[in-house]
Amino acid sequence: MNETKNRINQNNLHRAAPIGVFDSGVGGLTVVREIMRQIPNENIIYFGDTARVPYGSKSQETVTRFSEQIVRFLMTFQVKTIVVACNTASAYALDTLEKNLDIPIIGVVKPGAKMAAEVTRNGRIGVIATEATIGSQIYTDYIRELNKNVTIYGKACPLLVPLVEEGLLEDPVTDEIARRYLTELIDINIDTLILGCTHYPLIRSTLGRIMGNGVTLVNPAYETARELRNMLAEMDLLNLEPPRLGGNRYQFYVSDKAEKFVTFANSIIKYGILSARTIPIEQY
Ligand code: DGL
Repeated sequence: MNETKNRINQNNLHRAAPIGVFDSGVGGLTVVREIMRQIPNENIIYFGDTARVPYGSKSQETVTRFSEQIVRFLMTFQVKTIVVACNTASAYALDTLEKNLDIPIIGVVKPGAKMAAEVTRNGRIGVIATEATIGSQIYTDYIRELNKNVTIYGKACPLLVPLVEEGLLEDPVTDEIARRYLTELIDINIDTLILGCTHYPLIRSTLGRIMGNGVTLVNPAYETARELRNMLAEMDLLNLEPPRLGGNRYQFYVSDKAEKFVTFANSIIKYGILSARTIPIEQY
């Protein structure tokens, strides 16, 4: 971090510069929502790769290439930091992205892993995520770095992403499928469940109901916004200017289907998102 900090100081980043946030599609809006709540002065440029979602079933090489293009796009806005608001991209691409950037970049996995390692009481932690994130073992590795005495049980839940994308947030079909995925985690008596995919906080109440009161749900989106706020404060990069009346703090870009994105975004973020622009991300 100190090395990054030195590079940042040389770059003279501005507090009022925007934060770049990206995801494979709409799921990263759960992270944006938390950033808006926790650090409301910040300007945000969001990119959702709606043309190429899902990332969770793609190879590391492909997800890294997509992520690099998106970072190049976000850098055109002189962002002061980048948030990889996608668990799959955090698992597969964050290390590579970090090596080539001279601004700070954070993913969603570490903050979620840290919280889970802190809150577990019986040392049994479940992680639900895409096939890619579970296959990468990244949550297991991070949590075990922090606490050797825990056991982590990963479960890929690929059908939950399309259900959320279809807006079936409170629906018997989502209930049934979630129950099938979660039964084995209930049977092995986990006391902490990481929602390791950016879409899952949107069905948090369904997941919580199925797991029961004894299980703490960890939302990496919330933890990431907290870590981002701390990091910006430590680097003296928090935006001190309050929002201007009528000012446009938030800009949204996608690679396809901007209108569908706007409808979805408005259903989960209450800030009246008026538009999103489609951009040819392969050209970056
Ligand atoms: N945003 C992805 C994640 O958090 C889920 C959707 C996808 O597979 O692209 O892993």
